[in-house]
Amino acid sequence: MAGLLERHGRPLRLGIVGGGPESWIGRLHRGAAELDGWWRCAAGVFSNDPARSRAAGVALGFAPQRSYGTVQEMLARERERSDGIDAIAIMTPNDTHYAFSAAALDAGLDVVCDKPVTHDFKEACDLVGRVARGGRLFAVAHGYTAYPMTRYARHLVRDGTLGRLRLVQVEYIQSGMATRVEDGPQNNRFNWLLDPKRSGLALVMSAIGCHTQHLASFVTGLPVARVVADVGTLLPGRTVVDYVSAMLAMGDGTRGTFTVTQAAAGGENDIRLRVYGDKGMLEWWHRDPSYLRLAMHGEMAKVIARGDPFLPPEIIALGRTPRGHPEGLREAFANIYAEVAQDRMARTLGEALPALPYPRIEDGAHTMAFIEACLSSQASGRWEDVAPLPG
Ligand SMILES: NC(=O)c1ccc[n+]([C@@H]2O[C@H](COP(=O)([O-])OP(=O)(O)OC[C@H]3O[C@@H](n4cnc5c(N)ncnc54)[C@H](O)[C@@H]3O)[C@@H](O)[C@H]2O)c1
Repeated sequence: MAGLLERHGRPLRLGIVGGGPESWIGRLHRGAAELDGWWRCAAGVFSNDPARSRAAGVALGFAPQRSYGTVQEMLARERERSDGIDAIAIMTPNDTHYAFSAAALDAGLDVVCDKPVTHDFKEACDLVGRVARGGRLFAVAHGYTAYPMTRYARHLVRDGTLGRLRLVQVEYIQSGMATRVEDGPQNNRFNWLLDPKRSGLALVMSAIGCHTQHLASFVTGLPVARVVADVGTLLPGRTVVDYVSAMLAMGDGTRGTFTVTQAAAGGENDIRLRVYGDKGMLEWWHRDPSYLRLAMHGEMAKVIARGDPFLPPEIIALGRTPRGHPEGLREAFANIYAEVAQDRMARTLGEALPALPYPRIEDGAHTMAFIEACLSSQASGRWEDVAPLPG
């Protein structure tokens, strides 16, 4: 892999979809993509209003002729250029993800898409098929599983350090909807978030439940097989879902608990994971993302840090600054962008590359099946199976 960018001869060119000047996640995506030099943000569409989109592109520093009014226009014009985009990154309201992804894949581009990948499992399976048929790459922006310490957590599970898994506990507690935001001043963001047709099958799952389930499945290496869920609202009278708590049966029978809410006053992006095996447990918390706690039964607990010299080289390589200097979500996103670029460049050059762990469309589709199973369980009051991917 060393020298891959040089052998490829140029960074990949990214078309941005969404993430206008007022969107924090837009700034994070663009910065992450360019952080290590694998990508250049070359073009974009930043609003559903063509005039605003063009103006926003210029305000963000994009060339006026590559600040487009619509996604269709960007795909058509970029295809005509000798230096056209190689991929698009989607960070628009949730109801647009499927159509923009499908259009880009059909145009022969790779996709980095924010979550949820689609409205439902059926659409996600359709994208799985398009990716496979077109030989394209599709990454999902699950930053939490791209931190060095969540990657190392997965490594510890895989190499048997924890022994046979018994229990996974995962939660994501936020306060963004702890008050009646429905009754406050509205803006474009609330307009789509508070409309279930636009934000997804269950708002809290589209917003943070996706990340939470993916973190548990990624670190344990286990999909969720069955679920019994309490899906509802913590704030009386709310029409969008702000709370889901569930018991999980993972693929191998490991038990799990899952809680997500955006309506916990005082909560602050508290995503936390604990995995217990028959030999010990590990714990990771997003407030302190560069550290992982490992407690083996009957022994003194250890705190492992990003940059510790005994870590495997592929884990050390995911960090950029010496131990003790903070890194965060931008760097985690940059790891996803770096891996997608390496995957694409290696394929273009016909070089073999070990499988890279960035989240893929299959992961996004499993999440959609998980969300549907939670909703089915709420309706039936029983355990429900999570649909497997076709084929
Ligand atoms: N991965 C993460 O950690 C994370 C964090 C926050 C948000 N997100 C995701 O990012 C997406 C956007 O969320 P947000 O909070 O930034 O929303 P937002 O409403 O603040 O921003 C949406 C942006 O998309 C633009 N837009 C809307 N329609 C468009 C269209 N048709 N074409 C091009 N641009 C269009 C808007 O102008 C705006 O700039 C959501 O899917 C959300 O789930 C992901």
